[in-house]
Amino acid sequence: MQPIKFWIILNLELTRMEGKLIDSFGRQISYLRLAVTDRCNLRCQYCMPAHGIDIVDRKELLTFKEMYRITRVLSELGVNKVRLTGGEPFVRKGFVDFLEMLDFNDLLEEINITTNGVLISKHLEKIEQLKVKSINLSLDSLRKDKFAEITRRDVFDDVYETLEILEKSNINLKLNIVVQSGINTDEIIDFVELTKHKNIAVRFIEEMPFNGVGQKDVKEVWNYTKILSEIESKFDIEKLVDGKSSTSRNFKVDTYKGTFGIIPAFTRTICGDCNRIRITATGMFKNCLFDDGVFNVRDFMRDGASNDDLKKLFLSIVVKKPKNGFIAEKERNSKVSESMSTIGG
Ligand code: 5AD
Ligand code: SF4
Repeated sequence: MQPIKFWIILNLELTRMEGKLIDSFGRQISYLRLAVTDRCNLRCQYCMPAHGIDIVDRKELLTFKEMYRITRVLSELGVNKVRLTGGEPFVRKGFVDFLEMLDFNDLLEEINITTNGVLISKHLEKIEQLKVKSINLSLDSLRKDKFAEITRRDVFDDVYETLEILEKSNINLKLNIVVQSGINTDEIIDFVELTKHKNIAVRFIEEMPFNGVGQKDVKEVWNYTKILSEIESKFDIEKLVDGKSSTSRNFKVDTYKGTFGIIPAFTRTICGDCNRIRITATGMFKNCLFDDGVFNVRDFMRDGASNDDLKKLFLSIVVKKPKNGFIAEKERNSKVSESMSTIGG
């Protein structure tokens, strides 16, 4: 390429990227995971102890207006996709009104939700009219008794009903299965089999020590490789092309309607293309799931920060995003043990 042409293209590119959230490794942040509450109506074993976690005082939670403001400012810096998580988002009063509010943000292309599916069915008609592209439903067992053992609540029928309604809706349905050694690994094949007639994406997630207690001792480690070889022992599978910053490596069984994927959440082989940041329910900004929070945005706003202040802040903290989840974990002040319900699943 002629030097002059190269110079023009470089400058055009620099202008395009100006005011965008780019870290020191050149990764552009376009995806926000926002936890709308730390409360949950279930007590999944891999997420919290039986007695639950210490929930924060209500006034410590971000208000929906604060969440809207954070999202808007981030969207002006290039975030075009938001995932709403919790705790369980639908336990927070006013959550569906918040979804409608977010839908007004013309800079957002996609709103996605992670939910346990217990409280959602009566809201689905409204949600279908919004730009909610996909819903991730947590379903760790297809057996009613096992499901109750894992979640410590007897609501399998409600969740399965949600699955069936969502499958017929215009929203993409993904199932989240946290693969727990000695608990639900005997159902991996059944979950793949579920994709035979259902147009869903089943995703197996490596278990992480975010359970309110810390690392568990297990007899067998069920990581990405082991999950994949279990599936390969029963099915002829084909690899699908993954989206650039996809959290899962995706596959399908030829002739089956749906797909399946594996999320290497603990072995962390997906960090190179990470485009994500998180805001916890109390307004803590996290550059990585494994860091222990870098800045409290709620306090900054309540102390009177303007939108410009917020922009400068976000641009400056994203630069410090750690290269990967192992470095983030090493730089923490405390061991990984907090509940996913506090962080935002
Ligand atoms: N390990 C892996 N995934 C987890 N989640 C919650 N806790 C854990 C954990 N310890 C995920 C589940 C759930 C979502 C809210 O967060 O996929 O669907
Ligand atoms: Fe609730 Fe989700 Fe945690 Fe289960 S994993 S207790 S549904 S927040």
